[in-house]
Amino acid sequence: MNKEVKQRRLAYRAVITGHGSFAPANKLTNEELAKKVDTSDEWITSRTGIKVRHITTDDETTAFLATEAAKRALAEANLDAGELDLIIVATITPEMVFPSTASFVQRSLRAKKAWVFDLAAACSGFVYGLSIVQQFLESGRCKKALVIGAETLTKITNWKDRTSCILFGDGAGAVVLERGEGKQRGIIYSTMSSDGDRWKALNCQAYGSRYPADKKLKDPNKIYMEIKGREVYQQAIRRIVETVNACMDHCGLTIDDIGMVISHQMNARIIESAAKRLNLPNEKVYLNITEYGNTSAASVPIAFDECVRAGKIKRGDIVIFVAFGAGLTWGANVIQF
Ligand code: UT7
Repeated sequence: MNKEVKQRRLAYRAVITGHGSFAPANKLTNEELAKKVDTSDEWITSRTGIKVRHITTDDETTAFLATEAAKRALAEANLDAGELDLIIVATITPEMVFPSTASFVQRSLRAKKAWVFDLAAACSGFVYGLSIVQQFLESGRCKKALVIGAETLTKITNWKDRTSCILFGDGAGAVVLERGEGKQRGIIYSTMSSDGDRWKALNCQAYGSRYPADKKLKDPNKIYMEIKGREVYQQAIRRIVETVNACMDHCGLTIDDIGMVISHQMNARIIESAAKRLNLPNEKVYLNITEYGNTSAASVPIAFDECVRAGKIKRGDIVIFVAFGAGLTWGANVIQF
């Protein structure tokens, strides 16, 4: 792609040099789910596009998934973990309250030099993470960074609530970013937004400071995720369309310039409806929710990894990552891969 993209003159760029993903082997099909709760394969498929989701065992934790995805991304980048300056793990299902999931990943990878932290922006976490790393690489503060989206959402799923338990799955995706000098390739633009007034649309309330672990919960279901599906549905379409349009305007891009849009995978109908409003042809919108369900912060990097490995995204292509989730939060990155 030879498009002259409208972008700032920078000495350094944040270039993606490696990508990887990992999902637990154990799977749960719609048919199996329909034996646990009052639903059907037909309803789930037609309303969400989901057929199956990966489910962690008790021993498979968020840091484990994150580390496996990270190892694959580092191998692809041909980079030793000891060279990393920064590791961000985007997650809302952390290893424990503290220390951060990123601390466990650092330990497993032996990434001795890196400073590390978790980022809680729900489904937008990976996109937010890329935006943060972009700042550190462009400013010259860091040379090599790892951004991981990793979730074990099925551990906070209420398997008795058919309106939410059909949606979620577990997995992790990661990218290595390195400081590129004098290259046009890299992250071109990032945008992030949030609306805390709508926090009730998606939440999991227990065991924070509002409902501490030593106080009995009036409603035991507060230990699980709660969603207001319709509200999220409508907001998601609106914000995805608005954000992708803002990215194209800012960078002076048309649909023809874009190789692929990778949206957070929350519902095939949401993505298809947003794509229609954006006039995006099907071949420029990646969908893998059928196989994973909604994996929150992990969904964009898993989809990106699959796309590149399948040859659907090539070096030089312009790719837009866009995400929307709890907070509410939303955001996007425009990348020349
Ligand atoms: O990443 C952000 C997190 N994602 C989300 O928050 C999800 C966003 N929202 C959605 O994906 C959709 O709103 C859902 C898939 C959750 C629901 O789809 P919908 O088309 O908005 O359905 P609805 O909530 O309007 O419910 C329609 C009907 C209701 O029955 P009545 O009242 O019409 O008799 C529900 O009780 O479908 C019923 N229903 C179900 N039926 C079978 C709700 N869940 C199920 C189910 N199986 N699992």
